[in-house]
Amino acid sequence: MSVIASLAFSLGAYLVEGEAAFQSGRLLLGHSSVDNQCGKCHTPWGSVSNDKCAACHLDLFAREPNHGKEKPLCANCHLDHRGRHFDIKTAAKKLKAL
Ligand code: HEC
Ligand code: HEC
Ligand code: HEC
Repeated sequence: MSVIASLAFSLGAYLVEGEAAFQSGRLLLGHSSVDNQCGKCHTPWGSVSNDKCAACHLDLFAREPNHGKEKPLCANCHLDHRGRHFDIKTAAKKLKAL
């Protein structure tokens, strides 16, 4: 596809789906309530914010204050946009071992 056709396609998708057009895949089922609220996890158009993730997962940090301290970013271990039934915990265990 030419660059122009590809840009036209992206623009069309954007008009229909809004920002959601720029996601590569569906979010985890547990995250489906924020499907269209990118700002719940991302800074505007930017990276994933640890504080935003942690804000919804306070119970985990109450139980495990040092959770994930081996790596600086939640997204170093926790991927998303890989479909509703993506096994996020097994994937995190593998990434943690790297
Ligand atoms: C529940 C949290 C969450 C929400 C809500 C979310 N994202 Fe993400 N997103 C992530 C995580 C985590 C990553 C980085 C890890 C990865 O690559 O999977 C990411 C990565 C991305 C990337 C980088 C490429 C990719 O897919 O890996 C893009 C682009 C993106 N998100 C767009 C969006 C848009 C647009 C929205 C809103 C429609 C959105 N995201 C909503 C968690 C979220
Ligand atoms: C709007 C609130 C909200 C935000 C923001 C959010 N989550 Fe979640 N998350 C949930 C809910 C609700 C579930 C499903 C219930 C559960 O498993 O705790 C979930 C599930 C998960 C799970 C799977 C838990 C399991 O037991 O299988 C992981 C891992 C996770 N979230 C990590 C993250 C990361 C990393 C971010 C930031 C990129 C994030 N969450 C952002 C609310 C949120
Ligand atoms: C060094 C890797 C790593 C980092 C960084 C990390 N996690 Fe995790 N996380 C894991 C692993 C591995 C599991 C699965 C644990 C299990 O299944 O026993 C997990 C599980 C979870 C769960 C599910 C807990 C449950 O009740 O089973 C949530 C929610 C979560 N992480 C949120 C976060 C958030 C939010 C951040 C960032 C502030 C983060 N994690 C950073 C590796 C990490």
